[in-house]
Amino acid sequence: MLELRDAQKTIHLPSGAALELLQNISLKISPGESVAVLGRSGTGKSTLLGLLGLLDNLDQGSYLVDGYETTTMGDRSLACLRGEMFGFVYQRFCLMSRLSAFQNVEAPLLYRPGRKVERRRAVCAALEKVGLSERAKHKPDQLSGGEQQRVAIARALIHCPRVILADEPTGSLDHDTGGMILDLLLNLVKDTGAALVVVTHETQIAKRLARVLRISDGLLIEEKL
Ligand SMILES: Nc1ncnc2c1ncn2[C@@H]1O[C@H](COP(=O)(O)OP(=O)(O)O)[C@@H](O)[C@H]1O
Ligand SMILES: [Mg+2]
Repeated sequence: MLELRDAQKTIHLPSGAALELLQNISLKISPGESVAVLGRSGTGKSTLLGLLGLLDNLDQGSYLVDGYETTTMGDRSLACLRGEMFGFVYQRFCLMSRLSAFQNVEAPLLYRPGRKVERRRAVCAALEKVGLSERAKHKPDQLSGGEQQRVAIARALIHCPRVILADEPTGSLDHDTGGMILDLLLNLVKDTGAALVVVTHETQIAKRLARVLRISDGLLIEEKL
């Protein structure tokens, strides 16, 4: 479903020097797979996730989504594909502070066709899946960190993406809450058949996923934990 071939990403440091962050990375991800991307801070994990999620461009190489080459696609096609295919979850939840949990989850649907009543039904179902039906009217600052992340997960899943890309989704949470968030993500993708990519610097988190890839010195290595 997703295939990077010989992907390269170079960044330009403020000093003017170029750093080859990702060198010749090749990677295939199939539907239903759960993959951890492990690596120390600054190794390029978020950069890789941004490439996979079509938020960023490769410098060289090829990236196929469902067999279609994305590196030659125009902005509109990329935006469509990105919106359809991916759901994003971030370390800092990235919820809109003035909106309720319900409205945050609803937000991505406002840009899509569909009737209000169906939209409401979908949002209620998503909040129920993450166990937050009782918190629909709460604003983010009235929710715990774990609850905020559950809202973010409901939002990421609301348009039934085929891939969930999660960047350190447990990084702002205590150990137990983080474990519960990972359980929730794993259960949800099992139910929907979506693929899951979780970026983390914690081996304990990575171990819980079926497949572990480590980024080190610009290379991606398959690891058995
Ligand atoms: N757009 C950019 N311009 C310059 N440097 C960047 C850019 N994006 C990331 N970097 C640098 O690249 C390195 C890797 O970043 P990142 O992918 O965020 O790593 P990780 O998620 O593994 O911590 C860091 O040193 C970061 O400062
Ligand atoms: Mg990062």
